[in-house]
Amino acid sequence: MSANTAPTRNQFPADFRWGVSTSSFQIEGAGREDGKGESIWDRFCSEPGRIRDGSNGLVACDHYHRWPQDLDLAKQLGVNAYRFSIAWPRILPQGRGVVNEAGLAFYDRLVDGMLERGLDPWATLYHWDLPQALQAQGGWISRDTIAAFLEYTDLVTRRLGDRVKHWITHNEPWCSCIMGYWEGVHAPGGTSLADAMQACHHVLLSHGQAIPVIRKNSPGAQVGITLSLHPIAAASDSAADQAALKRHDGLRNRWFLDPLFGRGYPEDTLALLGAAAPQVLAGDLDAIATPTDFLGVNYYFPEMVADDPTGSHGPMRAKLVDRPGVERTGFGWEVSPQGLVDLLTRIQRDYAPAAVQLTENGSTFEDVLTPEGRVHDARRLSYLQRHLAALKQAIEAGVPVKGYFAWSLLDNFEWAEGYLRRFGLAYVDYTTQQRTLKDSGLWYGRFLNE
Ligand code: FCB
Repeated sequence: MSANTAPTRNQFPADFRWGVSTSSFQIEGAGREDGKGESIWDRFCSEPGRIRDGSNGLVACDHYHRWPQDLDLAKQLGVNAYRFSIAWPRILPQGRGVVNEAGLAFYDRLVDGMLERGLDPWATLYHWDLPQALQAQGGWISRDTIAAFLEYTDLVTRRLGDRVKHWITHNEPWCSCIMGYWEGVHAPGGTSLADAMQACHHVLLSHGQAIPVIRKNSPGAQVGITLSLHPIAAASDSAADQAALKRHDGLRNRWFLDPLFGRGYPEDTLALLGAAAPQVLAGDLDAIATPTDFLGVNYYFPEMVADDPTGSHGPMRAKLVDRPGVERTGFGWEVSPQGLVDLLTRIQRDYAPAAVQLTENGSTFEDVLTPEGRVHDARRLSYLQRHLAALKQAIEAGVPVKGYFAWSLLDNFEWAEGYLRRFGLAYVDYTTQQRTLKDSGLWYGRFLNE
């Protein structure tokens, strides 16, 4: 089948996991309710100029109050899995110590609500909303944050581990660390490469150290980590651009994959980082390489790079260039279903994970709600269909992909872009909080129910 034809559900393995993906800060709202503490994203949003539309997550999709209807919507789509994340500051408002029972009770209700509707809960422990109180002590740059993460993990998995059997420790460390501590565009807004690399190391280490805690509290659970990964091409065949590709790939992909798969940090990237390389203590690399049950992959777009001797992206000296004439989403991200095949086959060839879960994939376009209450998002629909076709192709090529989670169930708070970017299968009217399934969501529902 060509990658341009929409596949059907029965062309995938019968036990394939079909889901939608969300995250706490992006949908919950109730930012100051029921004892929730401040997160680094609450703080970041309050700083002028950080968020493009000046918005914040205080109300978002009001999912904290509307979750029964949102889970009904997921059930209506026909998915059998629901990926969500837990807001650490809702459970531990100061990051450690005093527990907020109301926060735990919320996730109890949410998980029970999923089970009642036949949705398998997939919980992410960290989707970027670090308690601000921990940031005040250095955040992920501080090694102490690992101990705090383990306490939080222990608490949450003790409480929910009897019902939640799929755990993701971290979502996209590249974003939480590189964008958050170096590029300054995500919370907490740091601008130091060395800090970012130390933060990355601590995030990866906290992942590895959390695995035995989760296994103890949630017997039989499957545990993994989710990375944002990109297939990367060079702008030309020149030796300079090829070398730039290797440098960029080192930080973007291999920096995370290599240590998780037991190879330590890539030597070439370490050398380029020089003094900005993280401090690594004895035993750290073994802990990071603790075996997992699956690798979570978030795929959105491929990248193309060229040599940049003047030093864009610091010591990686690689600049992103636009592939001319390609289709792009509203974000400017290149649309490339083939990129998904290339990425998954590369991961399989180089790392051979036991299983892969495609934990996020989706697109943003400008949506219009018609007076008849429809959203004709033909381009998102086409993106979805072609990426599912690509996924099928990757499975046929031998990549053990076991599940697909569309990003996202709802339009939501898209980080530094605020509410300007809509990624949902359902449109959210932020004035009325009305949800409307878009044509893409209606198609996903038909695909799942046929
Ligand atoms: C990913 C994030 C997710 C969402 C999508 C569009 O990088 O994990 O929260 O913002 O991008």
